Amino acid sequence: MQIAIIGAGWVGVVTAAAFADLGHTVWCADLNATRIQQLNHGEAPFFEPGLSDLLTRALASGRLYFTDDNQKAMEAAEVVFCCVNTPTGEDGVTDLSAVRAVAQDFSQHHLAGAVFVIKSTVPAGTAEKVRQLIGGDAVIASNPEFLAESTAIRDTLTPSRIVIGADETATIEIVKRVYEPIIASGAPVFTCDCATAEVIKTASNSFLATRISFINEIANYCNTVGADPMGVAQGMGLDPRIGNVRPGVGYGGGCFPKDVKALLQEGSRVDSPLTVLQATHEANYRQRTLLFDRIRQALGDVAGKRIAVLGLAFKPKTDDVRDAPALTLIEALLDAGATVAAYDPQVKSLPQQFASNITFAPDALTCASTADAVVLMCEWPEFQDLDLNVLKAQMSGSVLVDGRYMWSRKNAEALGFIYVA
Ligand SMILES: NC(=O)c1ccc[n+]([C@@H]2O[C@H](COP(=O)([O-])OP(=O)(O)OC[C@H]3O[C@@H](n4cnc5c(N)ncnc54)[C@H](O)[C@@H]3O)[C@@H](O)[C@H]2O)c1
Repeated sequence: MQIAIIGAGWVGVVTAAAFADLGHTVWCADLNATRIQQLNHGEAPFFEPGLSDLLTRALASGRLYFTDDNQKAMEAAEVVFCCVNTPTGEDGVTDLSAVRAVAQDFSQHHLAGAVFVIKSTVPAGTAEKVRQLIGGDAVIASNPEFLAESTAIRDTLTPSRIVIGADETATIEIVKRVYEPIIASGAPVFTCDCATAEVIKTASNSFLATRISFINEIANYCNTVGADPMGVAQGMGLDPRIGNVRPGVGYGGGCFPKDVKALLQEGSRVDSPLTVLQATHEANYRQRTLLFDRIRQALGDVAGKRIAVLGLAFKPKTDDVRDAPALTLIEALLDAGATVAAYDPQVKSLPQQFASNITFAPDALTCASTADAVVLMCEWPEFQDLDLNVLKAQMSGSVLVDGRYMWSRKNAEALGFIYVA
């Protein structure tokens, strides 16, 4: 099929490369001309395992094109996927201006009968608004994306489910054809109306976020009663109804925080309180403050202290630092007068307000050199393999802060660390 993907971010680039790999002809557009140039040279604009190879293969197939002209991408497309960003403001209101801009482009320039598919995460009712904006014989579908950064390619090619919302069966069938090879290999398809598809996405992210806040509060409780937080999480997870849960310093990234805020705002707008979700949100940000307080307690005062931060990304195997807990902590440490060194296997630059105030180290041990405290903020596998004895020998102090429950308290204390979690 002939497909257009508008927005070349995590979702757009991975989807475009995957669809081209499946045999479709794909034009992917973005306003960011530098990014498009990079992509045309086969360079992924962010770190995502396997993406470079997939991009190279898709470009070599002659079925994948990148352009900074939305209308050019759309002109021959039977299906147009809107994959642009949908940020929320402080008040939680979703900014749909990018979705509206793409819908506007589509309304002026599309093949007769082309389907406009909203893949961006949006509040319930957005597809209906877009239908009115496009007007005429607009054919709209909602096909939310469930990929997770770090496993984005696997999630795209073997998804847990493909959700397709549309009013007409014919529209659903067209979107299904895009996914045909994936469906043929067993991916479940769930079809519904657009509003239901929109809520499936925001409610799924909100549920996953709630699990995280729940296990984090249980971990805090464990710490006060002398139970092992990781042991409790593992023991709970053996119940298949519970599954894998892992305590830590809270969720971050470009999706969970904004999607939780957006659903809360929507609930309050229509007077349908989401009190559990409100607690999820508050617990998540309290977790960050708690960690800072524990560091302060362990060090006495952080002013003038040298702190080594290991891991900056919001989770391992990505270089995404959007709303990353590490950045909240670094900001608090700098405000309190600490000196910060940081190391992350993939994040090599940060927004200006951080970058100009911290030192980037080339590896974990150099980062820990002369540190009063080492703080683990992202559980990259290479940190699991660190020899804590060698790490300690690098440091001036002995405070080891394990924001992700990666190390054993017993082992760390046996080595002479003051272990904080
Ligand atoms: N990142 C994820 O893991 C993920 C997973 C599932 C769903 N989502 C949702 O998918 C959407 C996209 O997320 P993302 O992380 O890929 O965002 P992103 O910010 O990485 O990328 C969005 C891209 O859209 C481009 N853009 C904005 N306005 C445009 C316009 N008018 N025309 C063309 N391009 C335009 C931007 O330049 C940017 O490159 C969001 O709604 C997000 O919530 C993201």
